[in-house]
Order: sequence, then C-alpha cells, then structure tokens
Amino acid sequence: MKRKEIPNRAVVSTQWGDEGKGKIVDVFAEEADIIARGTGGANAGHTIHIGEREFIFHLVPAGIIRPKKVNIIGNGVVLDPRVLCEELDILRHAGIEYKSRLLLALNAKLVLPQHLLLDRVSDSSAKNGRIGTTGRGIGPAYADHYSRIGLTINDLLNPRLLEEKLERNLREKLLLLREYDPEVIKKIMWHAHLGGGQFYSENDFLDVQAITKAYLAYGKRLAPLICDTDNYLRAVVGHHSILLEGAQGTLLSVDYGTYPFVTSSDCGIEGLVKGVGLRTHDIQEVWGIAKAPYMTRVGEGPFPTEMGGERSAHWCGNGATCKMEREQYSHVSFESENELEFGIAVRFAGNEYGATTGRPRRTGWVDTLLLKLATTVNGPDVILTKLDVLSGCKTIKICTAYQYDGPQVRWGMDTLYKGETLRKAIPNSEVLQHCKPIYELFPGWQQDITGMRRWRELPPELKHIIHAIEERAGVNARILSVGPDRSQMIFR
Ligand code: IMP
Repeated sequence: MKRKEIPNRAVVSTQWGDEGKGKIVDVFAEEADIIARGTGGANAGHTIHIGEREFIFHLVPAGIIRPKKVNIIGNGVVLDPRVLCEELDILRHAGIEYKSRLLLALNAKLVLPQHLLLDRVSDSSAKNGRIGTTGRGIGPAYADHYSRIGLTINDLLNPRLLEEKLERNLREKLLLLREYDPEVIKKIMWHAHLGGGQFYSENDFLDVQAITKAYLAYGKRLAPLICDTDNYLRAVVGHHSILLEGAQGTLLSVDYGTYPFVTSSDCGIEGLVKGVGLRTHDIQEVWGIAKAPYMTRVGEGPFPTEMGGERSAHWCGNGATCKMEREQYSHVSFESENELEFGIAVRFAGNEYGATTGRPRRTGWVDTLLLKLATTVNGPDVILTKLDVLSGCKTIKICTAYQYDGPQVRWGMDTLYKGETLRKAIPNSEVLQHCKPIYELFPGWQQDITGMRRWRELPPELKHIIHAIEERAGVNARILSVGPDRSQMIFR
C-alpha cells in the first residue's frame, strides 16, 4: 500500500530551464517509489552531485541514482536511442543496476537521424528567426508526431514495420532536404551524434538501410525495458508514490512560453502529466523551481532583465565557450560596473554553462512578472535555487514591472503604447523584446550561506529579498537550495 504521508509530486521549472531540477528531483526521489519523465528529450541535461561524483543525464530520470526506485521515460518524451544507450553504459560502468527498474514507454516518440539533421540544418540556415536549438532533433521529432508520420519506440521491435515507416518518413524528408546546400548537409551528417557519416547517402542524404540496421540493434538492446508505461502508472497511481520530473522550463513551453523561442513540448505541469499518461488531479504537490535572485536563458529569444542586454545575447549566442570567457574575462567580479562583465561574473560564480551543449547561459536578474506568469500555469509553490551564488554582491535587483518601448500594438482587447508601464508579462516575443525592466533595489548579503540549514540562520538581507520575490510574484518559497549538494536545503 502507498505510504499515506507521501504525496504524488511534480517538479517543473518556472523559468527557461537549468534551475537545478536534477538536485530537487534527487532529493524528493528518496521518498518516492517511481520517478517518471514526460516531456522533452536529450535537449535536457540533469547534473547530479553525490559526494565527489558528478552525473549528467539527458534522458534517464534523475531518480535512477537512488537504488530500488522505478524510473520511467513516458509517452511524451522524444527519445534518441543512441543517447539512451550511452547513458545505460554510464550506469553500467558506475555499477548502478537499471535493468529491473527502468521502463520505456512503448509510445514514446523516436528521434531519428533525419530529425537531428533537419534540426541542425534548418536552425543554422534560418537568417533572422534562429531559435538556437540544442540540435538534438527535438522540434522535427515532435513535428513528425503531429504530422502523423512519426515513429514510436515500439516500432524498434518490429523490423518490417520499422522499415516501412522509415521509408515513408524519409520520402517526405528528402523533399525538404533538397532546399539546403548538399555540402552543409554532408558536413552535418559527419557529426558524432549522427554516427560520423554512418547514415549518409550521396543521392538521398539518408541511407534507409543503414538507419534500419542501427535502430534494430538499439531495439534489441532496449527491448527488455519497453512496455506500456501509461497503463502501469494508471494502475499504481493510488498505491505508490510517484514523482514527476519536468524538463526544460515553463517559459520554454510551446504552449505557454516566449513563442517562437521555445522548445517543442509543453514544459508546464499539464504537459508533464499527460506525457506520463496521468491526469493533473493525480498529483497532490506541484513544485515550481526558480533560480533567484538571478536567472538564466540558453539560446535565442527575449530576456528583459539580461545583464548586458543585447551585447550579452550576442556574446553567448555566437560561439563563446567557457574557456574563451575564462581567458578573456578573468578580471571580472561582482564589483564590475560594466553590466556585461557583471553578468559574466555571475556566470562564473554559478557555473552557468549548458549541461547539454556547453554554451554559456545568458544571465539576468530575477523577473517577478515572468515568475508570476509561470505560476499561473503550475501553481504558487516554488523552490528557490542557487541562492548561494550571489553571496557577496553589494546590490540585488528584482524586476517588478516593465516599460514597454516598442511600436503601438494590439494585444487582444488591449493596445500597448510606447512608454507605458506594464505590470504583467505578455508571453509574446514581439512584445517582450521591447520590454525594459523596472527594478527595485535591495542591499545584498555578504555571508557564505552554503552551510546554513535553517531559515532563521539566513542573513536578514536575503530574507527580505525572498519576501519581496514572494510578494511581487505571488509565490510561496517554501523550500530553498543553498548549494549543489543534496544536503544543502532549507525547508521553511
Ligand atoms: P530545442 O529544445 O533543442 O528545440 O531548443 C529550443 C530552445 O530551448 C533553445 O533556445 C534551447 O536553448 C532551449 N532549451 C532546450 N532544452 C533546454 C534545457 O534543458 N535548458 C535550457 N534551455 C533549453
């Protein structure tokens, strides 16, 4: 029977992802029987620290580290079997048993080489509308699902069906690929994620035989893990405690985020429960994760509070790497008056480089309007993470309103005028890109808080900032994270 006191929980991000969900899932996983993922794919990256060991997973739920827990990759996930097999190897080498407790939804969507190719070729060729995707094939795989030409994990178990469906899918892709420079395609096909040329065909770009062969081999390896996880979860939902692990962040949701600079799944609570075959009322606690008092974004798209504004977006979006930054900006600190440099100092302090792509994450001050927007989707209970990063910073800024600085525009029944003050975020990139932040300033705290475990120990300046975030965004920050380790948590 279910241990009564343990509710079914969900952990979702309230910003643009990378708020430290992995650690929170890991902490909650201790009490859960089952950990399930329902959205996204290998675009996600969870970093989990256990003592000296660091694990980065893109597909396997973070609960796999906990012995005896069942981990599920649900129907809403777009699954790249190559990445999954690599992660299974990592688990095997680390001596972590997974065979009896990792289940793959038979109806999860299959990521194929053509998805990786199309993602890379289309995003790199888009002149103005580049999204800055992770290149993991996410958008094209979801697009195939909605176009009704997608493949599922179950197709890996049926050689004849796999080949038929692949052929049909590739016929459509060939027409699309003819639009692009064949040399660019060839170069992408040699990428390690595409098997280093293994799937390349001179005439058709993609070799159906080679793909079928490789994918059947993945199917053979994954077969013992593939089952009807929707049914499994529905059957156990009242008896076992379930923890749902979100991916990306609500502001990246295709339904609620800063469209079109979003990913292709609904990263809010509704997308998550649907992606594991459950209903929202099956979940008793929804926890929204938010970084504070700074936040980050990877890839293109509006970010009103970005430190260094367009210069930062340009620097982060044009091939800057951690190594380059450390060499070129070794002098920066929280004392830097130049905003771009201050933002880089925050990136250094928070180690804000993508777990999936290694790209520098754009840094900015926490935006309570966007946080409020995300909580209308997920609910008001939040966990604030990375609170230790800005220790030692003289002044903290919190965005509590915008000045709209763009051309006059209709937003439904409202008209926005240049110079107007907005107190509510409009999740539309044409509007948001013209929003200038209006800040409230707070004195920072100087103490190291990483060893603190109780609310009353926290510096009064930080408590004041947390109260302000709660009040302006309408959230309850009931749990705080003050460092990367499992133990560095404060429960209020
Ligand atoms: P895609 O999901 O690879 O299609 O990328 C779409 C957008 O979402 C890009 O701006 C990515 O940088 C962003 N994105 C995707 N996954 C993550 C994530 O796990 N963390 C942060 N940003 C992400």
